[in-house]
Amino acid sequence: MRASWSSPWLFILAATGSAVGLGNIWRFPYVTGENGGGAFVLLYLFFVFFMGLPILFSEILIGKRAQKNPINAMKSAALESGAGQYWKFIGAIGVLAGCLILSFYSVIAGWCLAYVYDYVTVANLVTSFEEADEKLDYLTNSPIKLITWHTLFMLVTVVIVARGLKRGFELATKYLMPVLFATLLLLVGHAVIVGDFSSSISYLFEPDFSRLTSKTILLAMGQAFFSLSIGMGAIMAYGSYLPTGISVGKCALSIAIADTSVALLAGLAIFPIVFAYGLEPAQGPGLVFVTLNVGFSEMANGRFFGLVFFLLLTIAAWTSSISLIEPGIAWLSEVSEMSRKRASVFLGLTIWLVGLGSVFSFNLWSEFKFIGMNIFEIIEFVSTSLILPFGGMMLVLFVGWFMKRNIVVSELNLKTDSTFTSIFFILMKFLAPLGVLIVLIENSGIRKLVF
Ligand code: PHE
Repeated sequence: MRASWSSPWLFILAATGSAVGLGNIWRFPYVTGENGGGAFVLLYLFFVFFMGLPILFSEILIGKRAQKNPINAMKSAALESGAGQYWKFIGAIGVLAGCLILSFYSVIAGWCLAYVYDYVTVANLVTSFEEADEKLDYLTNSPIKLITWHTLFMLVTVVIVARGLKRGFELATKYLMPVLFATLLLLVGHAVIVGDFSSSISYLFEPDFSRLTSKTILLAMGQAFFSLSIGMGAIMAYGSYLPTGISVGKCALSIAIADTSVALLAGLAIFPIVFAYGLEPAQGPGLVFVTLNVGFSEMANGRFFGLVFFLLLTIAAWTSSISLIEPGIAWLSEVSEMSRKRASVFLGLTIWLVGLGSVFSFNLWSEFKFIGMNIFEIIEFVSTSLILPFGGMMLVLFVGWFMKRNIVVSELNLKTDSTFTSIFFILMKFLAPLGVLIVLIENSGIRKLVF
């Protein structure tokens, strides 16, 4: 018999663990910083609830209904509703995207591990912005260092997923998520006391619409998708372990609310320090690795809080990476003769190898560029800016147009003829897929080629 979550809460917690990751704590604050704060946040919230949520519904619904890995789940959900079995290719593209994302995700998560190690062992913390910058360069210029941390990160991920649902990721979720929430709250509390909290509130929540450009809109949507872990079957794979009789709607809403709250809390843990120490919010990807590092070294007990912060990032990355590899492992072990352990080792090793491409993009192969991007940037762009939105769009289209309406209505506990149900279907059939399509066309550069 296929395993299932010990309680629906654990599913919500694990899916939140998948959603909360580097995307919330590393990427959200710096993209917000680069794009002017409040207006970006508002757009992000809009995309989470009007486009992300319908896709989240769709993924949980398909997974739960089929009780299979994402590739077979798409196939059987399609067959059940009389659609062609070719929908399984959407599952397959998702499995591929998960592997690609994990290949670079693990390298960046390795930086977090390196910082944790550094905070524990180094004698003197950095004292200036230049030193902090040099420190990150020193790490990224060394293939050996990057490979070591990337290997360690992948190893732990593989061990957890190889142990399966109950003894692996359910257990990890149960222990890691409370630690994650507690550390985050500790850091926010600390930032409220030592940082410039009121400037952060106005920065995050007072929109300045003059700073909005079409690029900001695209970025906000991409960020919403990446952060919710949608479009590649991660949540579908988790949903496939859900027993019957659970409300898909409530689960999806709880996950979206939890993920968004963590992103905002991460902003409230970081910006007060950035403002209090006169640092630059629009620093870009170096925001937490360089800027915040300076902030921590200037404050009392900075070593402790710095360590806690990078531990938080690492834990968040682990609970996400498990869900990135799970669709592939579930598929390999369900359709081939391979045991779950073997499948985990095989796939883990393959992803680790691909990850070396990202490692070398920062040093040995930094000059090697294709259409202006190094390997790391190409893999990141293709998987997160193209495949995730494409997968997400196909999933809502599938549920909106092809899945039998009575299945959707009963799984989401909707009333058959209510106004809410009609609005919901308009969102699923037209608004959400159309919105994603526009973003996809922009992202892929097709519009520039055609017009
Ligand atoms: N949501 C994760 C984050 O915010 C990343 C992720 C994307 C995980 C897609 C799984 C699937 O970091």
